[in-house]
Amino acid sequence: MKIVSTIAELKAATAEARKQNKIVGLVPTMGALHKGHLSLVNKACSECQFVVVSIFVNPTQFNNPEDLRTYPRTLEADTRLLADNTNADVVFAPTVEEVYPEPDTRQFSFGPLAEVMEGKYRPGHFNGVAQIVSKLFMFVEPDKAFFGEKDFQQLAIIRQMVKDLAMNIEIIPCPIVREDDGLAVSSRNTLLTDEFRAVAPFIQETLRKSVEKMSTMTPQETIEWVCRKINNYGNLEVEYYSIVDGLTLQDIESWDDTDYVVGCITVYAGKVRLIDNITYKY
Ligand code: PAF
Repeated sequence: MKIVSTIAELKAATAEARKQNKIVGLVPTMGALHKGHLSLVNKACSECQFVVVSIFVNPTQFNNPEDLRTYPRTLEADTRLLADNTNADVVFAPTVEEVYPEPDTRQFSFGPLAEVMEGKYRPGHFNGVAQIVSKLFMFVEPDKAFFGEKDFQQLAIIRQMVKDLAMNIEIIPCPIVREDDGLAVSSRNTLLTDEFRAVAPFIQETLRKSVEKMSTMTPQETIEWVCRKINNYGNLEVEYYSIVDGLTLQDIESWDDTDYVVGCITVYAGKVRLIDNITYKY
């Protein structure tokens, strides 16, 4: 596994792979790798003959400077984990100056898709995600790119970006990986205090139970039920819970509004912001 930090080295490595007609896969990450990332990389390795993993804490997608400052950075452990557990070919770990030699002034517009949920609570976040992911796509020119379904809205935004820019890249969604107690695996879990780590699995437990409420409650009543349950448990604090059409990400009023219904939640466990989701109908 080769570790490179410049775009020139990255391009040289991918050009060589393409010369050999290899299918090139990209797994973009912000590092602090865990078993969720490993599952993305291993899926990429099973579908592609040449896999690039990028590790870059992208400053333009953080709307909270404290979140950017405290985001875990563990490059050495990350590369060891990848070398020991995957067949990734290249790790691209650039500096901020390499990626943004000048400030990125591009403005992406995703319409209603980006105006709800994370887009509403983290202004500018998806513009930053689109800036970095579009750059990575231009650097690597992958045939396929792999993203986790935990960031459900991000996946929808990236699909839209690829469509808008007519990029010839297949976006592969990968299922959420969970700890044994149900907590969605996340780099932020390492920041949880013991007290909050103990109660955090209640988020997924409540979402799962809420599926049983579909026959007796409206989506709005289900939202209220979920928020009440979680807010009354171990100092957890729901930022938002939305039950949406899985394609448009717009709120639904009735379970019959669409065939694809997903619930997306953000919960504060102390200072740590956790996100998760559940599919009600697909
Ligand atoms: O999901 C993430 O880790 C990041 O948003 C991504 C896609 C790597 C872009 O920085």
